[in-house]
Amino acid sequence: MDARKQIVRDAYDKIAERYLKWSAPSQVRTHYLDKFRTLLQDGADVLELGCGAGIPVTRTLTQRAHVTAVDISPAQAALALKNAPAALIVCADMMALEFPPDSFDAVCAFYAITHLPREEHGEMFRRIAKWLKPGGTFLASLGVFETDGRTEDWHGAPNYFSHPTADESLRLLESAGLVVAEQEIARQDLKGEEDLPFLWVVARKTAR
Ligand SMILES: C[S@@+](CC[C@H](N)C(=O)[O-])C[C@H]1O[C@@H](n2cnc3c(N)ncnc32)[C@H](O)[C@@H]1O
Repeated sequence: MDARKQIVRDAYDKIAERYLKWSAPSQVRTHYLDKFRTLLQDGADVLELGCGAGIPVTRTLTQRAHVTAVDISPAQAALALKNAPAALIVCADMMALEFPPDSFDAVCAFYAITHLPREEHGEMFRRIAKWLKPGGTFLASLGVFETDGRTEDWHGAPNYFSHPTADESLRLLESAGLVVAEQEIARQDLKGEEDLPFLWVVARKTAR
């Protein structure tokens, strides 16, 4: 495995429970989870990338959708199995996934693509566009400022973050065939020094 992805996997294996407690009060995530949920028809097929511990996102989505949820960290995938038993949980690098074209009505990624080496973001968006049914929805939080590197301590473990600017992410989405319908740069509402802004996007695969 790519050394940068090993850093991410090992970090979440170590901090899974701590991250869960820290992130629980996030109102911006709740806002976008509610928005995503209302865009789904009952029985929709949904792919969630970087599902973490499976709460609140995975478990909430399983109330109305068939959810395939993916995480690179075995500890996170094990928690997701427990917390969202109705979902199909896959422990894998999201870049290693293979699905037939037009497999999903919607794809979401909450705070996960910002861990993927930034040279992979464009290809990830192209694959998401391929896996979505025409007219399908992609919702994600992406980076705002350009960054690429390891942090020595994030909640008690080294971690790795990588993303282009918000403008470049928007360009990559459009060139992958995902039309951005909504975009917002929103700060977290979590207490403490980690009050980072994210670019939130709702994009659609153009209907054929
Ligand atoms: C910040 S956490 C977010 C978890 C959850 N989506 C949430 O909103 O709380 C990022 C998650 O993405 C996962 N992740 C990071 N890189 C990944 C990759 N290449 N493939 C699959 N999962 C990945 C991590 O293991 C971690 O559980």
